[in-house]
Amino acid sequence: MKSILDNRPALTEEVNKVAEVAGYLWQKGWAERNGGNITINITEFVDDEIRQMKPICDVKSIGAVLPHLKGCYFYCKGTNKRMRDLARWPMANGSVIRILDDCASYVIIADQSVAPTSELPSHLSVHNYLISRGSPYKASVHTHPIELVAMTHCKKYLEKDVATRVLWSMIPETKAFCPRGLGIIPYELPSSVQLAEATIKELEDYDVVMWEKHGVFAVDCDVMQAFDQIDVLNKSALIYIAAKSMGFEPDGMSDEQMEEMKVAFNLPK
Ligand code: 13P
Ligand code: ZN
Repeated sequence: MKSILDNRPALTEEVNKVAEVAGYLWQKGWAERNGGNITINITEFVDDEIRQMKPICDVKSIGAVLPHLKGCYFYCKGTNKRMRDLARWPMANGSVIRILDDCASYVIIADQSVAPTSELPSHLSVHNYLISRGSPYKASVHTHPIELVAMTHCKKYLEKDVATRVLWSMIPETKAFCPRGLGIIPYELPSSVQLAEATIKELEDYDVVMWEKHGVFAVDCDVMQAFDQIDVLNKSALIYIAAKSMGFEPDGMSDEQMEEMKVAFNLPK
């Protein structure tokens, strides 16, 4: 079967990275059933032939008007599709969409008519926000990391930067590789426009945000880097839990040690 990836090595590489990360999400136990979703902005890889490709579905509404997405293209995980399947067959479990000139609707153009993720309003609102800011970020990842989600079942960790402080203090690398910390978004209905709006607001200050009792949403230059930020945060949550299950409250790094990291790595916070 013909694929949009044929003879397009740069685009293939980006989609293959999504497939690789999808496999990691499954292996980590963060992607039960169809849990989680990934989108990447692939507009830079689009050539005239792609621009001429005919839609393979009816025009669909995004549910929001996103002016910076005019003429943009995205690879999106399909709704109800499994990460473990996407890992092996990315073009059967995801699709490429084109945003139409009204900036409020889209069509699927390749390879198959796989309806995009139910969290599309959040993903596309975030890409719209990133472009408006001139950000180099092209990937957004939503997943259900067990230990980080568990922390949101305790009110104290929902207060601003309380979880960030605990996670950063477990191991120096967390602050170095997730330098903006973990933003918190109080519970909203999955796939809602309210959730999308809260997500963009929180991404002004963080690269990774937590949807209370649901999962994280992360952005970065590519999908691998977005995954890495979630992975270092969840590693810290695991260290915290390991210490607690050994029967003690972990000391955490001191304020001086954290400040030293900030200076040594030239970190923003
Ligand atoms: P989709 O299968 O629609 O991507 O939904 C998964 C999910 O995690 C919703 O929050
Ligand atoms: Zn989810």
